[in-house]
Amino acid sequence: MDKFRIEGGRPLEGKVTIGGAKNAALPAMAAALLTSKRVVLRNIPRVRDIITMRGLLDEMGADSSLKGERQGNRLAIHARKIPDPTAPYELVKQMRASVLVLGPLVGRFGHARVSLPGGCAIGARPINLHLKGLEKLGATISIEHGYVEARADRLQGDLFHFDTITVTGTENLMMAATLADGVTVLENAALEPEIEDLAALLNKMGADITGAGTPTIRVRGVARLEGAEHSIIPDRIETGTFLAAAAITGGHLILECAEPRHLTAVMAKLREAGVEIESRPATRGKDVTQVIEVKATGPGRAADVTTQEYPGFPTDMQAQYMALATQAQGSSVITETIFENRYLHALELARMGADITVDGRRAVVRGPTRLSGANVQASDLRASASLVLAALAAEGESVVDRVYHIDRGYERIEDKLKRLGAQIQRITED
Ligand code: EPU
Repeated sequence: MDKFRIEGGRPLEGKVTIGGAKNAALPAMAAALLTSKRVVLRNIPRVRDIITMRGLLDEMGADSSLKGERQGNRLAIHARKIPDPTAPYELVKQMRASVLVLGPLVGRFGHARVSLPGGCAIGARPINLHLKGLEKLGATISIEHGYVEARADRLQGDLFHFDTITVTGTENLMMAATLADGVTVLENAALEPEIEDLAALLNKMGADITGAGTPTIRVRGVARLEGAEHSIIPDRIETGTFLAAAAITGGHLILECAEPRHLTAVMAKLREAGVEIESRPATRGKDVTQVIEVKATGPGRAADVTTQEYPGFPTDMQAQYMALATQAQGSSVITETIFENRYLHALELARMGADITVDGRRAVVRGPTRLSGANVQASDLRASASLVLAALAAEGESVVDRVYHIDRGYERIEDKLKRLGAQIQRITED
């Protein structure tokens, strides 16, 4: 298992390019199952979860090819036929987002067999609403031997109201509905930019979707979908993580190919915490992109954070924010409302000297505390990012274990950090 050895205490400086959004790329890849034509996706991040999803699609019978950075990180997926519409336990247990193949498979083939995801380090994370929604569209669902079996001759458009806002649930039903008979209306849908990006791809493929990015999405089913080309939006959580990295190390960074509109809540909170952030358009080749400049101007201020669905402060930035709050003057109250068990990083941060009290969904971080390098262990993707941030700010050496978690969603983060002046090294052990 790989580890990072990090020598803290150096301000990060320079330019870093933000990659494509993992959580937009995963549903886009699943959407390729909706057509027998080729779907080409650009700006695909080279992270472990994408490799896992590609493995799943290939195992089911799709052909895929991936080109490198020079060709725009381009992934072509061709799902001519899918002889075996099964997502096996071995893959789903590695990555819960595998469940995103459920909607497209039932929509196109009238049959899917997807392993139930089981427990997760950050909370229970059931998929009951994905299943209830598919049932509302006429699918018959049964659970057998740990697998969800979904069957339908052809899905029928209907009205479905989500009791809880769910990102992948909205994506799954939106994809299934594209090939249903008639109109589907999804109420209380998630508003995340990844939903809008998926709808944009599906519409390029010939779907008829309106309202993505609002609480009510309307999908008029079509007989078939075609191939399409699409460029994935920038990763807002990678962007937020680098904003926090600049702030916690007292650094100055320029983040290229970012999308500040997707980080309004994060940037507002960091500004409240005393971080200077500006954004401006820039050109990259023929494209107009956005650049975010972030500068730490002095000791940070405490600021309370409550995680919320988009456009609120994202749960996927909570752990990184907690690391930053350890360096702020005063007490920051963090309230996690999305996942019930997403504070495992707090105990590891405490091992580095942080003063954090967790009580249910609330955590109080008292700062500033001097962090000292220690051996710590990552428990999930964003928790591992928070430990890396803390280690960058800590005095002396830290070893962050189980960095396979960070590899799931950050593209060679140690290379990007090294180029910004961080002392970080990957230790590979068999
Ligand atoms: N929920 C239910 N029933 C369902 C589905 C969800 O009760 O059928 C609950 C969950 O237990 C949770 C809440 O609804 O309490 C929200 O979960 P959601 O379904 O929105 O999460 P997700 O779709 O499984 C995506 C991201 C996560 C991110 C969350 C919240 C992808 C592939 N994953 O998960 O990303 O934290 O939305 O924004 O898009 C990450 O990238 O590190 C990550 C965990």
